[in-house]
Amino acid sequence: VVPVLTIDGPSGSGKGTVSALVAERLGWRLLDSGALYRAVGYAAGMAGLDLSDADAMARCAQGTKIQFRSGEAGGGTRVLVNGHDATDELRTETAGAAASAIASMPSVRQALVALQLGFRRPPGLVADGRDMGTVIFPDAAFKVFLTASAAERAKRRYKQLKEKGLSVTLAGLQREIEARDSRDASRAVAPLRPADDAVLVDTTGMPIDEVVAKVLAVVQS
Ligand code: CDP
Repeated sequence: VVPVLTIDGPSGSGKGTVSALVAERLGWRLLDSGALYRAVGYAAGMAGLDLSDADAMARCAQGTKIQFRSGEAGGGTRVLVNGHDATDELRTETAGAAASAIASMPSVRQALVALQLGFRRPPGLVADGRDMGTVIFPDAAFKVFLTASAAERAKRRYKQLKEKGLSVTLAGLQREIEARDSRDASRAVAPLRPADDAVLVDTTGMPIDEVVAKVLAVVQS
């Protein structure tokens, strides 16, 4: 079987950065599942659909073509939504909020299952998200759940968005992230929570290399 390492956690816990670095170190594939929900929300917005219409959102999730392209000039992975490079738009907190809204719909989650399972290919997969260890890859050999204090998570996300040239305020961002986290944790389907067999890592005040080392240790132990 192809080994899977799941990395779940709330916004700003460092999941995205850590998952990319760990996948690179292991030479494994990477699934950024949050980008899928962001892409569907974005496609729905572009099509002028009503984000509260669960049937329309499920159809949108089924019909949206999402491609990841790595190794482009400028570095990093680009995300193409229906052929359009939407990487920058997908990073905004507006896209995050839309993703979180549609991610609470069971039909939307269901529509994205097969696509996610398809990322499990040799030599291995690092799966980044909210329900990787609990719902999508419950049989994963390695599971990590990253946390950090709410203040630290808001600060990290603030720094990230600022670096991308987006205009945000720390207080506003903290409020938005808290609203999204509480919705993600309290929803009926695939609520954000650690799998019973996940290793919990509190990354508050921990430099990224140290988090990467801790996660690699879980795979190499
Ligand atoms: O980067 P950040 O952690 O802020 O967000 P993300 O991982 O891109 O996910 C955006 C939103 O998609 C989350 O707030 C969740 O509501 C949803 N999501 C989910 O429900 N399940 C996943 N496996 C990944 C993301």
